[in-house]
Amino acid sequence: MTLQTDFDQWSGSVCKTMEDFLQQHLPDPSIVPRQLHEAMRYAVLDGGKRVRPLLAFAAGELVEAPTTALTVVAASIELIHAYSLVHDDLPAMDNDTLRRGKPTCHVRFGEALALLVGDTLQSLAFQWLSGFSLHADPRQQLLMIHQLALASGSRGMGGGQAIDLQSTDNTLSLPELEAMHLKKTGALIRAAVLMGAECGRPLTPTEQQHLSQYANTLGLAFQVVDDVLDAEMDTATLGKTAGKDAAANKPTYVSIMGLSQAKDFSRELLSTAHESLVPFGHRRRRLEELAHFIVNRRS
Ligand code: IPE
Ligand code: IPE
Ligand code: MG
Ligand code: MG
Ligand code: MG
Repeated sequence: MTLQTDFDQWSGSVCKTMEDFLQQHLPDPSIVPRQLHEAMRYAVLDGGKRVRPLLAFAAGELVEAPTTALTVVAASIELIHAYSLVHDDLPAMDNDTLRRGKPTCHVRFGEALALLVGDTLQSLAFQWLSGFSLHADPRQQLLMIHQLALASGSRGMGGGQAIDLQSTDNTLSLPELEAMHLKKTGALIRAAVLMGAECGRPLTPTEQQHLSQYANTLGLAFQVVDDVLDAEMDTATLGKTAGKDAAANKPTYVSIMGLSQAKDFSRELLSTAHESLVPFGHRRRRLEELAHFIVNRRS
């Protein structure tokens, strides 16, 4: 059996666990308000690479974390991510009509409902994170809730999105661009890795430091690759409109460094991410494979 097949099997099984949980726990469309529940499910189910859940599960392998806790943590993070995509696509933000190969939430259900889908997915994430038992030590669970709030808020994803909007039609320096990417995309990727690891036995301070470096580096790499794919792939492969960043005059790694240097930079970040994992020995395998997947993906 090849390594790739083994990774595909592992990721397929995590995605199945995720899909089952989301199907079961997202409010049923027969419950009032029916259209809102239908739209929430439309935004979350049936699509997406589920990279953040995969990262949480892979980090869980470092600490023998139980699947039950990882499933709730991963699903909560995916809800925040889905909400961020619904709002990102709104006319007031990136004004996109295609997401995950389907019409965007506001195109299908209207802007007002899409706003509410984002709002209510965010609340549901914290409802799940606080409503299920995730750890024998409740302080550890409180820490995870706090961590996701920070990663989603004005110092994390939401703040990064605000910087993104302010920066449209402006040039950014490389450090400014890096700071924006670390917030708008990096913060949730980082939270997925660290929260997955918090579901199991405690890491040593040195392990914590290495995992944190991996999480930051991969968070940045994820958005560098997103910028590259926007410039070089086609709409059908991406499942979202290609070439949007240049059309909207967004500062990206491609606009600032050029395509070839942006790709080189993503490969440098991949080797830094891999180096950060060395102290974890054989337990690092899934995180290593995921870093490779994120940097070499085609959509
Ligand atoms: C897209 O994220 C938005 C960014 C943060 C760059 P993904 O590429 O993870 O989107 P899905 O979940 O697979 O659709
Ligand atoms: C979006 O970045 C980041 C968040 C949704 C938080 P982009 O605007 O580049 O994402 P895509 O390309 O639309 O998926
Ligand atoms: Mg955007
Ligand atoms: Mg966008
Ligand atoms: Mg993009």
